[in-house]
Amino acid sequence: MKQNIDWNKLSFHYTETDYVVRASCKDGVWQQPYATTDKTITLHVAATGLQYGQQVFEGLKAFRGADGRVRLFRMRENARRMAHSAEGLLMTPPPEDLFCEAIRLALRKNIDYLPPYETGATLYFRPILVATSHEISVAPGKDCELIVVATPIGAYFPGKFHCTPFIVERHIDRAAPQGTGTWKVGGNYGSSFRATEAAHAQGYDCMFTDAKTHRYIDECSAANFIGIRDLSPTLPSREGESRSQYEYLTPRSTAILPSITNDSLMTLAREMGMKVTRRHIRVEELADMQEAAACGTACVISPIGRVYDPDKDRMYQFGDKPGPILTKLYHALKDIQYGRAEDTHGWCEVVEI
Ligand code: PLP
Ligand code: COI
Repeated sequence: MKQNIDWNKLSFHYTETDYVVRASCKDGVWQQPYATTDKTITLHVAATGLQYGQQVFEGLKAFRGADGRVRLFRMRENARRMAHSAEGLLMTPPPEDLFCEAIRLALRKNIDYLPPYETGATLYFRPILVATSHEISVAPGKDCELIVVATPIGAYFPGKFHCTPFIVERHIDRAAPQGTGTWKVGGNYGSSFRATEAAHAQGYDCMFTDAKTHRYIDECSAANFIGIRDLSPTLPSREGESRSQYEYLTPRSTAILPSITNDSLMTLAREMGMKVTRRHIRVEELADMQEAAACGTACVISPIGRVYDPDKDRMYQFGDKPGPILTKLYHALKDIQYGRAEDTHGWCEVVEI
C-alpha cells in the first residue's frame, strides 16, 4: 500500500511500488503479462542471464498532464529498442504489443504512485528482460522473463534547470566500437562503473570517448551528448539584416545507445529551424560550441557547465546557466510530455485509467 510520499523530495532512486508486471517466454512462446506484489524472482542457478549476462533493459516515463490525463512517452520506441537489444544477445524479444501491454498494466496497477502534475516528478518504468534457460556451456538461452518495475522519480532538476560538470574519459571504455554499445545491455553499465565513480570522486560526471581512438565524444555516462553551435559568424552577412542560425550537433558512433530523447530533440530542433548534424565530434570541438548537454529519459536535457579534459589539462566552459537554445528545446519537449503543447508527432499515448 502506498505510504505518504513527499513527491517534491523524490530523486532518481528506487521507491517501492505495489506491483511489478511479469511475462514469461518458454520454448519461444510468450505468455500474457500479469501483475504480482512479489518483488523477488526465482532464477535457476544455471540461468544464462545469471551466468553470462544475457540481460537487457529499458527506461521510460509516464506523465500526469496539465489536463489531468496520463501519458506514456514514445513507448513503442522503447519496445523496438528492447527487441533490438534482445536480438543483439540472441534472446527472444517480447512482441511490441506485449511489451506495451505490460507497461500499461504496470501503470494502472501502480497509478497511486504517479506523481501529481505540479511536482514535475514522473512514474518511471524499468522493463528488464533476463534469460532463464539453464546452460553451463557458453551458449545463449531462449527462455526469458520480462519484468516491469515501476518507481516514482523526482524532477531531475527540482526547482530549476541547472548545469553539471563533465570530465573526458580516455582510459576506461564503456563499449567497443563493434560491441554492445548500441544495445541497452546491463553489462554496459557495470563496465562503466569504474569510470563514472572515478569521475564522481573528482566532482564530475563522465564523458566517454570512442574506444578506438579516444579522440571523439561518444556519450555522457548514461545519456547522449548534444552540442549547440552558433553558425551566424559563418553565414554571409547582408546589410541591415541580422541572421542567426544554430547547429544541433550530436555524435555518430557505433558504440552509443540510440537515444529516444535525442531523436525527439533532433526533430524539435529541425522544426525550430536549426541545422541538425550527426557526425564524429572531436573533443576539441567543444571549444566551438556555445551550449552543451547530456540527454536521456532520466535527465531529459542536462546542460553541461564545463568539461575538463585531464589528458590535455584543458577546461571548456559553457557557463553556470543553461543556454537559451537548450532551454527552449527542454521546454518544448516537456510541454509535449505534460500535454501543454499539441503532440503533432503522436509521441504520447494517453492511457485511460
Ligand atoms: N545513452 C545511454 C548509455 C543510456 O543509458 C540512455 C538512457 O536510456 C541514453 C543514452 C538515453 O536514451 P533515452 O533517451 O532513450 O532514454
Ligand atoms: C534512462 O535515462 O532511462 C536510463 O535508463 C539511464 C540510466 C538511468 C540507466
